[in-house]
Amino acid sequence: MKRVVAFGPGRVNLIGEHTDYNGGLALPFAIAEGVTVTATATDGGEIHAVAHDFDGETDSFAVAEPPRGAEGWRPFVRGIVAELAIKQGARLEIRGDLPRGSGLSSSAALEVALALALLGLEERDVDRHDLAKICSRVENDWVGAQTGLLDQTASLLSTDGHALRIDFTTMETTSVPLELGDWQLVTVDSGDHHSLSAASGYNERRAECEEAAKRLGVVTISDAREEDTAELPTTLAKRVRHVLSENARVDATVAALERRELETVGRLLDESHASLRDNYEASTDRVEATAKRLRKSGAAGARMVGGGFGGHVLALFPPDAPPPVDARAVRPGPGARLLEGG
Ligand code: GLA
Repeated sequence: MKRVVAFGPGRVNLIGEHTDYNGGLALPFAIAEGVTVTATATDGGEIHAVAHDFDGETDSFAVAEPPRGAEGWRPFVRGIVAELAIKQGARLEIRGDLPRGSGLSSSAALEVALALALLGLEERDVDRHDLAKICSRVENDWVGAQTGLLDQTASLLSTDGHALRIDFTTMETTSVPLELGDWQLVTVDSGDHHSLSAASGYNERRAECEEAAKRLGVVTISDAREEDTAELPTTLAKRVRHVLSENARVDATVAALERRELETVGRLLDESHASLRDNYEASTDRVEATAKRLRKSGAAGARMVGGGFGGHVLALFPPDAPPPVDARAVRPGPGARLLEGG
């Protein structure tokens, strides 16, 4: 029977936070860790999935009619099968080495690996930009997380050794060499875990940004100008200020990387953090304490990453400053790919 093995990497967003659903810019990169899906074709129209990292939990359903209403990892499988209109029955083995809830996007890694494995079995090819949208739809409609396109685009389109500049208005992507030399990028857990309050904070920010765009008569707030913020209530003005300044910081980071000015990249990470804290109001005490601790141990810059309201802090360490023991080194790796078959 035909067998395909596909890998979807996790990602780190170097800079450009809360810009994806605002038509802005971001600069993520895929990392070495991720999710591997082994798909073996079976006779009959059923999907049988085994999640090895979830104590070998299983799920079985008719390929023609993936049922709704599941929780945990199952809606990812059902949603991918449904949204890709998969016809081939299969046995799916899911394994990963990304810690869940670590801010490294285990969800996108899972969606992407499932999609490539199932498409591989059917010998179908879907444009990767379109596939990112399909995977994101699974997350929105099947899993119930109102996230943007950052994670799936990073997992699918990143290239080894590079960050990926994404323009979320045009969906144009550009690979930017991420040459760190002896410098290190690390992430550290703040200890404040993603929770319902994180999800509601995220959704509230999205709603505020939509409201600001509506009041200014622009499609997304990335089309606004700094002077327009004078027309807005203080809170909405701050959200717009964050997005406009964050977009500018993405391109300043691209320019600094081109000039190999890593000190400048560190400063931009600090500025991003300050704006996420003061303008976007997405920080927590523990995130603040973690960012401070990292700067104190010699980081050239540190910032909260991901949806905010807890989660992880990313820091850039120069060669002479060893990161603390609880830091996880992250390096740019290749994007999603087939490891076997297809
Ligand atoms: C989460 C979402 C992304 C993005 C970030 C904030 O990680 O999954 O789509 O919105 O938050 O930049």
